[in-house]
Amino acid sequence: MKQSNWWKNAVVYQIYPRSFQDSNNDGIGDLQGIKDRIPYLKKLGVDVIWLNPIYDSPDQDNGYDISDYRNIASKYGSLKDFKQLLNTLHEQNMKLVMDLVVNHTSDQHDWFKASRKSRSNKYSDYYIWRDPVNGHEPNNWGSSFGGSAWTYVPERKQYYLHLFAEGQPDLNWENPQVRQSVYEIMRYWLDMGIDGYRMDVINFISKPEGLPDYPCVPGAKYSNSQAAVADGPRLNEFLQEMNREVLSKYDIMTVGEMPNVTPEDAINYTGLDRKELNMVFQFEHVSLGANPDPRFGQWNDEPINLVELKQVLSKWQNKLNGKAWNSLYWNNHDRPRAVSHFANDDPKYRINAAKMLGTTLHMMQGTPYIYEGEEIGMTNAHLTSIDQYEDIESLNIYHDLVEKEAITDSQTMLKYLASISRDNARTPMQWDDSNNAGFTEGTPWYRLNDNYPTINVKQALSDKESVFYHYQKLVELRHQYEIIRLGSYNLLDPQDEEVFAYERIYNNQKLLVISNFTDSKLQREYNEELKGHLLISNYKDDLGMTLRPYESKVYLLD
Ligand code: GLC
Ligand code: CA
Repeated sequence: MKQSNWWKNAVVYQIYPRSFQDSNNDGIGDLQGIKDRIPYLKKLGVDVIWLNPIYDSPDQDNGYDISDYRNIASKYGSLKDFKQLLNTLHEQNMKLVMDLVVNHTSDQHDWFKASRKSRSNKYSDYYIWRDPVNGHEPNNWGSSFGGSAWTYVPERKQYYLHLFAEGQPDLNWENPQVRQSVYEIMRYWLDMGIDGYRMDVINFISKPEGLPDYPCVPGAKYSNSQAAVADGPRLNEFLQEMNREVLSKYDIMTVGEMPNVTPEDAINYTGLDRKELNMVFQFEHVSLGANPDPRFGQWNDEPINLVELKQVLSKWQNKLNGKAWNSLYWNNHDRPRAVSHFANDDPKYRINAAKMLGTTLHMMQGTPYIYEGEEIGMTNAHLTSIDQYEDIESLNIYHDLVEKEAITDSQTMLKYLASISRDNARTPMQWDDSNNAGFTEGTPWYRLNDNYPTINVKQALSDKESVFYHYQKLVELRHQYEIIRLGSYNLLDPQDEEVFAYERIYNNQKLLVISNFTDSKLQREYNEELKGHLLISNYKDDLGMTLRPYESKVYLLD
């Protein structure tokens, strides 16, 4: 099948289905709810919807533990609902991308239920089983959700590997039958008409030979298994096989979530001539605020250093230019809200700050991803007590660092959670100022953000100056201007700690993007006279070299 690479011109909107729109008042968002909101998505102008997992799952990790890959979980609707949603999106010229979670399954999947029973059945080798070593776990790898990455099963007298929760056993990609089973699942949905896959932690599928210990950070009991397995020896081979057997037969888009990936790796797995994947989600810019004490990993509440942020994003722009294609995102279901994390959610600045972030990212080369609620400037939830949290990662890390290992106190950890927890992204979508923000008339599966009476879609749509209309304009500009899609990139003043300025160059055109990342009024000089055509700005007038708090503007210079 000829690949038209349509995804290079697209803007993707990510939906976290359980928090988007409930249609039957059981408190959980569902497919019918998404379908009802298509006119809203159409108005925003996005081209593609990516859905987080909606398959059958016991929900230990909110759907990332799949027990049946061919069925829609009943809380979200039925296969029929899914087909209707897909058809309606296609009728509206929109596309649908699904989440493919095949590094691991749920421990409730039939494959695992069989696999754990004995060493000699059809599914015995579907997972990664190892004998105990001196009566202990086979190696020192830790689970990303706390504790060892190994769990013992008496029936087999063996341990199985799980990089994530105990209920998320890792598939054994060394087994060709596993790979064929995965390809069959992929074809099942592609033949139904879906337009691509976002592939969950796909750079973890090839494990290093012999599963050796990985160095621990001082004071830690277990090592970082993500670092131990990322970028494994057979990853290229597996992705090429997947491409040959499945992906190349469809005109679709693929984006691989790849923790620890470098631009060189990205070119390796998504290079334009590689015949593997189309894009990666890299983690460098979202890992910047990590704690200097490695035992805490990402858990911290320091503001992001702008010079570092510029350096990282610019590196990705420049290194991939002409060789691979960037995915552009500030946040997703695993990250705090963009405006709170990278800018300022104080009511005095929130709107301009959210617009500023949107402009800074959407003027870069790559495919932008908008996470539900970002387009109205939704903020972190500012939670203050541990029982307000829901997410397995947040609860486990609190338990481990405060209670089990006692390396910090509750108050400090609560500050870190408030700043970084994935639950910030998972509070329900804020549609209006009615009860439960119009998300549900039942009891919502998870608490609303307290600020929904003021920050909501209804308000945004009624206000021409809202974040929503700014995002709508950004999407429009990308569709309209080749320079935004294709221009080369050049960072200006890398050492400027307050302003993110860059230019894009294409044929005889130049685009100049200037964003003030502070709440102060600044004065800057640029070589160019700022006399081009002002494409977009978050202030009503233009003061040239004077930049107001969080001001962001884009000039097209001919
Ligand atoms: C990815 C998902 C995250 C999930 C993890 C395990 O990082 O985005 O939500 O917990 O993989 O599947
Ligand atoms: Ca529902």
